[in-house]
Amino acid sequence: MEMHKFDVLIVGAGGAGLMAALHASKGTNTAVLSKLYPTRSHTGTALGGIGAALGNLEEDKWEWHAFDTIKGGDYLTDQDAAEILAREAIDAVIELEHFGLPFDRTEDGKISQRRFGGHTNNETGQPVRRACHAADRTGHMILQTLYQQCIKNNVNFFDEYHVIDLIMNDGRVAGVVAINIDRGDLHIFQGKAVVFATGGWGKCWEVTSNAHSLTGDGAAICFRRGIPLEDMEFYQFHPTGLYPTGFLITEGVRGEGGVLINGRGERFMERYAPKIKDLASRDVVSRAIYLELREGRGIKGKRYVYLDVTPDTVNRYLAEAGETRRIDVHFIETKLAETVDQSRTYAGIDPTREPMPIQPTAHYAMGGIPTNNDGCGIADAHNTIIPGLYAAGECACVSVHGANRLGTNSLVDLVVFGRRAGKHAVEFCKQADFVPLPADAGKEAEAEIERIRKANGKTRPAVLRQKMQQTMMDYVGVFRTEKDMRQAIETIREMKEAYRKDLTIDDRGSRFNTDLLEAWELGCQLDIAEVTAVSALARQESRGGHSREDFPKRDDVNWLKHTLACKDGDKITLDYKPVVITKYQPKERVY
Ligand code: FUM
Repeated sequence: MEMHKFDVLIVGAGGAGLMAALHASKGTNTAVLSKLYPTRSHTGTALGGIGAALGNLEEDKWEWHAFDTIKGGDYLTDQDAAEILAREAIDAVIELEHFGLPFDRTEDGKISQRRFGGHTNNETGQPVRRACHAADRTGHMILQTLYQQCIKNNVNFFDEYHVIDLIMNDGRVAGVVAINIDRGDLHIFQGKAVVFATGGWGKCWEVTSNAHSLTGDGAAICFRRGIPLEDMEFYQFHPTGLYPTGFLITEGVRGEGGVLINGRGERFMERYAPKIKDLASRDVVSRAIYLELREGRGIKGKRYVYLDVTPDTVNRYLAEAGETRRIDVHFIETKLAETVDQSRTYAGIDPTREPMPIQPTAHYAMGGIPTNNDGCGIADAHNTIIPGLYAAGECACVSVHGANRLGTNSLVDLVVFGRRAGKHAVEFCKQADFVPLPADAGKEAEAEIERIRKANGKTRPAVLRQKMQQTMMDYVGVFRTEKDMRQAIETIREMKEAYRKDLTIDDRGSRFNTDLLEAWELGCQLDIAEVTAVSALARQESRGGHSREDFPKRDDVNWLKHTLACKDGDKITLDYKPVVITKYQPKERVY
C-alpha cells in the first residue's frame, strides 16, 4: 500500500471539512481526502441561508439566536455549544464575506437576511430576519468560496480518495486507509490528527433530500473502531421535500412568505403553531403535515400538501398580517431561483403560478460522532478525549442541535465548529508526535474490500438498500412505536446477515468500481440504521425529531440526557450523559 504522511488529515470536503482544512493549513501540513470532487460535496445543496444575528434588517441579538437553537432542539442542546454557535456565527459570516462570498445585499449594501423556521425576536415571539443568503444557493456559494481559499492556502487535495477505515494504536489516532477510486488501490495516510467531516446518512431512508453519497461512512467507521455514536435517534425530516422525489425545497420559501395548504384549502399551520405558523421548527411542521395526511387532508387525498408561494396568495397573507411588503414574480425568480428551477425541472410545476406538491423528507442527522466544543472526539460519558480524533459538521454531535436542528444552523455549525476543529488541530499537532502505525495497518479494510469483491452469494446490494430504506421510512420515520422499531431492528439484523453471508456484486475489477464501493457503503448504512433504531427504541419519550406515539410526551425527569451507543461485538450497548444547561431551564415549547 502506498504511504502518505501529513500532520492533519481531513476526511470530507464539504463546508466543515474545507473550513477545518483552511484553518488547519495555516499552521500544519494538511491534506483533504474526499470521495467526491470537493465542490460536488453536499454542502452545495444547502439552500436558504446561514443564520447569524447581524441585525441588518431589524433588531436581533446572538443571545436570541442561542435561545432559539436551544428551544428548537427541545432542550437537548448543550447550551454552552449553542452560545458558541450563535456568538461566533456573526464573525464567521463576516469572515466568509471577506473571503469573497457573494451574499445578496440590502438596498444599503449590507448582507441581506430572511426569515427561517424557529428564528424569533425573543421579546415579541415573532419571526426575525436572521438567515444571511446568496439567493437560495447559499451552501453552493460557501463551498465554492472555501474551496478557492483552500487552494490559495496550499491545502493538499486527494480527490476521489474514499476513506474506508480509521487506524488507531493504543487508543490514539494514527491515520486512515483510503481507496483511490480511479485506480482501485489502497493507500495509508499517517496523520497526527484526523478530522471526520463526512456529512450525514439521509440515504438510510427512502424519501430524502440527501445525495447518493450520504451514506454515513465517517460515523460508521468510528463506530466500528469502538467510538460511541451520540443521539442517533434524533433524525430530522425537513417539511418540504418536493413530491415525489424528496428533493429539498428550501424553508426560505416560507421565509419569504410561502404558506402550506391542505386538501381543503386551509392554511393548516395556523392550528398547530398559532404564533409563527408555517415558520415553526421543522419537527413541529413535519408532524403537522403527517397528521394532515393521516386525516385524509392531503391534496386530492394523496400523500402530499401544497407549498404556495404564488404572489397572489403570499400578498393576501402579508396584507392580513398587516405587513406592507409585497412580492411579485421577479422577486420569486431572483430570491428563490434554485427552487423555481428545481420545481419546473423535477415536478413540472412553475411555482410563480401554482403551488408545489411537497412531503416531509429525511434531511439531517442531529446525532453523530461525539465531540467537545473544539471538535475533539470523545470516548465516553465522562467526555474523555480521544487523542488526535476530530469531527465537525453533520457527522459530528457537539451537541448543538439537540433533538431538532433549526434551519440555517447546519451551515453555521460547519463554519463555526469546522473552524474550531481546524484551529485546535494546529495546537494539538504542535505538541503531538505521529503515532506509530500498527504492523497490520490497513489489513482489515483490505480484507473487507476483497470479501465484497469476491462475494458470490445471491443478494444484490440494491435489493438490500431498497429494503433498508423502506424499513427506516415505515418504522423509524417521523412517528415511531415500540412495535415498529422492534420490527425495524429485526429486519435490519436479517439484512446484515445477508450482507455478510449472501452478497454478490457484478464488477470484480479495480478501476472506478462503484459497484464495489456502493456495496461497502451499504455496510455503513446498515450499521447506522441499526444504531438509530436501537437508540430510538430505548428512548421512551417524545422530543424534537423523535416522536413516539406510545410515549407522546417529553420526559425531562428521565430523559433529559444524551444517548451514547457503542459497538460491543455484534451487540450495541447504550450509555447516557447529561445535557449541559447554562441558563435556560427546560420549558414547554410553544410556537
Ligand atoms: O430549507 C433549507 O434551505 C435548508 C436549510 C437547512 O437545512 O438548514
